[in-house]
Formats: sequence, structure tokens, C-alpha cells
Amino acid sequence: MKFFADTANLAQILEVHALGVLDGVTTNPSLMAKEGIKGEENILAHYALLAREVPGDISAEVISTDYEGILREGRKLAKIADNIVVKVPMIKEGIKAISTFKNEGIRTNCTLIFSAGQALIAAKAGASYVSPFIGRIDDISGEGVQLIAQIVNIFSNFGMETEVLAASVRHTLHIVQCAELGADVVTCPPSVILQLINHPLTDIGLEKFLADHKKLNG
Ligand code: E4P
Repeated sequence: MKFFADTANLAQILEVHALGVLDGVTTNPSLMAKEGIKGEENILAHYALLAREVPGDISAEVISTDYEGILREGRKLAKIADNIVVKVPMIKEGIKAISTFKNEGIRTNCTLIFSAGQALIAAKAGASYVSPFIGRIDDISGEGVQLIAQIVNIFSNFGMETEVLAASVRHTLHIVQCAELGADVVTCPPSVILQLINHPLTDIGLEKFLADHKKLNG
């Protein structure tokens, strides 16, 4: 399973990359705004920087919601680097644009997916990735990981090439559940990826090993 960092913060991305476990990055307009990146020139420059620093795919989201606008923006984003994936919202105009991008050889990530039907039509249109938002489903008392199970099952029934990118991941249990279900990718805040390392019994065990060693060796 691939790990993507769900942030536009370069320092946080590099912290995970330094561990050798990072496969890509996803951003969205809210995450870009959180870093204070504004204005078309700065936004494109930031994507170029991320695309240079991270060897894997970088999802860069369009702001337009009309077909022509999505195409215009997406083509510009795709030109930045080969590892830029154009992130397109799950709307009718978005699906149409994903089909066109597919014919042009531009890779896409269909975002804001909350049902298996949405994932299916995005895959039919030729999306490279679909992004079901599991945390936001949990937030309204649903079971986000069940959606991952459904989509993984449907895509495997038909050998669909579209990758299931579990998004809106809130904690390490989400990551483990997505891994058990066979999601291709999880995108998580870097802090959640780092939390995978921690276990109190590891800390207690290490402390004891070092103390025992010290008793004899000083
Ligand atoms: C996905 O690509 C989105 O950037 C993200 O996972 C949304 O997560 P949130 O629900 O924590 O905002």
C-alpha cells in the first residue's frame, strides 16, 4: 500500500520522505490556503517545488467547476511535471473532463467521493485515482471504511485499473483498516503516518533493554 502525505507543507512532507516511506502527496485548496500559498503564480510554483522534491505523484486540484475551465486549469497543472496528477471534483463537468484528460494522457484523481456509485463512474471515465473521504463519512456517523471495502471489491470484480486512494484519514486505525481491505493508497496528515511508529510497549521494552545493558556495562 502506498503512503501519500495529505498536506502542502514541504517541511512536514520532507520529514516523512526522510524515513523512506513516502510515495506521493495530495493537496487541496484548503491545504494550500492553510500554508498561505495564494495567487496563480505562487500556487503553480509551489506545485513545481513539491513535484521536484517528492519522487511520487503530486495531486494538484483545479478550482474551476465548468468543463472548459477544468480543462484549461488541468492542462496547465499537468505541464508542470510528469508526476503531477490533476485533481478533479466529483461533479458532472468533472467526469466529462476526466474522460477528456484520459484521452490526452493526463492522469487524474477524482476527489470528494462519498459513494461507490461515484467511484464507479469516475473509474469508467478513466480516473487514475478515486478519493473516497472516509473521515468525513465517520464525522456524520457513517462507516467510512465500509465504502473502501465496497469500492475495492467492485474494482477487483472488473479488474479496473483505477487506484483506490483512501482520503480524509484521521488516525492510524484508519490506515490499518484500509491496508486490510486492500486500498491501493492512503493519504494522511504526516503526523498520522508518524504515529504508526509509536507503541508504549516498545518504549517500555527499549528502556528495559538499555537499563539492563547499562547495569553491566556502565
Ligand atoms: C484528499 O485528497 C483530501 O485532501 C483530504 O484527505 C481531505 O481530508 P479532510 O477531511 O481531513 O479535510
